[in-house]
Amino acid sequence: QLYDFGMIGLGVMGRNFLLNVADDGFGALGTDIDQESVDALNEEGKEMRVKGVSTQKEFVSLLSRPRKIMMLVPAGKIVDSVIEGLLPILDEGDILIDGGNSHYDDTDRRYEYLKTKGIRFLGAGVSGGAKGARLGPSIMPGGDRSAWEDVRPILETVAAKVNGDPCVTYIGEKSSGHYVKMVHNGIEYGLMQLLAEAYDILKRVGGMDNDQMSELFTRWNNGRLNSYLVEITAAILKFREEGSETHLLDVILDKAKQKGTGKWTSQSAMDIGVPIPTIDSAVTMRAISAFKEYRQDNSKLYTVVHPDEPLLKGEGLAEAVEKALYFGFVCCYAQGMHLLAEASEEMDYKLDLEGIARIWRGGCIIRAELLETIRSAYGKREGLKNMMATIEFREDLHDCRDAVAEIVHQANERGVPSMCLSSALQYFEAFRSERLPLNLVQAQRDYFGSHTYERLDEKGTFHTTWDPKKIHKAGDETDS
Ligand code: 6PG
Repeated sequence: QLYDFGMIGLGVMGRNFLLNVADDGFGALGTDIDQESVDALNEEGKEMRVKGVSTQKEFVSLLSRPRKIMMLVPAGKIVDSVIEGLLPILDEGDILIDGGNSHYDDTDRRYEYLKTKGIRFLGAGVSGGAKGARLGPSIMPGGDRSAWEDVRPILETVAAKVNGDPCVTYIGEKSSGHYVKMVHNGIEYGLMQLLAEAYDILKRVGGMDNDQMSELFTRWNNGRLNSYLVEITAAILKFREEGSETHLLDVILDKAKQKGTGKWTSQSAMDIGVPIPTIDSAVTMRAISAFKEYRQDNSKLYTVVHPDEPLLKGEGLAEAVEKALYFGFVCCYAQGMHLLAEASEEMDYKLDLEGIARIWRGGCIIRAELLETIRSAYGKREGLKNMMATIEFREDLHDCRDAVAEIVHQANERGVPSMCLSSALQYFEAFRSERLPLNLVQAQRDYFGSHTYERLDEKGTFHTTWDPKKIHKAGDETDS
């Protein structure tokens, strides 16, 4: 009997995804170059319609047509080499899905290439980690629409559900699925860093211990901050290894790694010209964290004189940090959604932002109660780009603003870095400023480079000879 769905790459994500497919009654077939991974799948799937095979030839021969094959292998050259290995043994109309975190440019290239070979390609973001893959991830497929229609029954069954609604939808053409997953990860970076800063402030300004903070995060998780990342932060804070008095968190090296999706989000936002400073700050903080030795040396050179007792303590501090965190979360999602809205036009993705917020409500790493409000804000307004000014968020942002400013001030007083929280506040302040001092920047540009400027009191483009004396001094480098 032929199998309905195939998986190449049986690491923990691939294996779990396949077991999830089989749970739902589909025949699930897997292959991997590593024989141990194949054996592990056969062992774990003993009682199910699951099979692991060692060669791609056998794998392809055992799949029903059109073949539906997902690759969950590390992003980069490996994806291309898997594709090259498959091409001679696939048939026209077969479907290939790249479920990894591939760069959207690679996905566009592969989409066009595979089209010339008669293979229908989907670039699909899959979020939720190993547990999500097993129990229900959020899936963001983009690319060949007819391929989506063919795999839809399987992906809809496998995906996480929120009130029965599957966390998967067709995102759009070409690389749109991977683009949306990349921005998901950018938001993930931002939320994680905001939580890290809240933890640092509660600890170093408020003097709270890990167990107290764990309780606080658990309490917050029952309120408007309800989210997967707040939930796991509470669990991490109280975790002790068996037989140990020490919290594991306290002995984890403070250097954060990154595989690139956050950085790509910032790069793309810069290219398109969309401000996402909270996400940029999170990427920057990971980079600063990596320079541990510099930080160690500098910490001996520069000491911060702590002022008197903090003004905010105990419940007062906790309440203000909750507000700051909520404010930061809203700004972080707002920046990510704004980037998607602008990228949708720039790349002609035709994204449905309500649909994206809807499938992020469950299964993925950034799932949060807030996403239901975001979904509804975008659902009510066609063409909405930035959600900050909508009635859904206006009152809350207004209400939280002073608390964020106070928390950032308290952190500054004690030399506790709060780059993400500060950037969220500055983003808000800049976006609510009718006038910014960039008139001076325009004047400077015109002064040294004749780059021209526009005026408030007159229409047109202007250039001024700011310093007539200098213009005749040939070779004066200040004039260049
Ligand atoms: C997810 C995660 C997943 C991966 C991150 C880690 O949605 O399930 O985002 O894709 O864990 O990409 O990324 P970094 O190694 O860059 O932190």
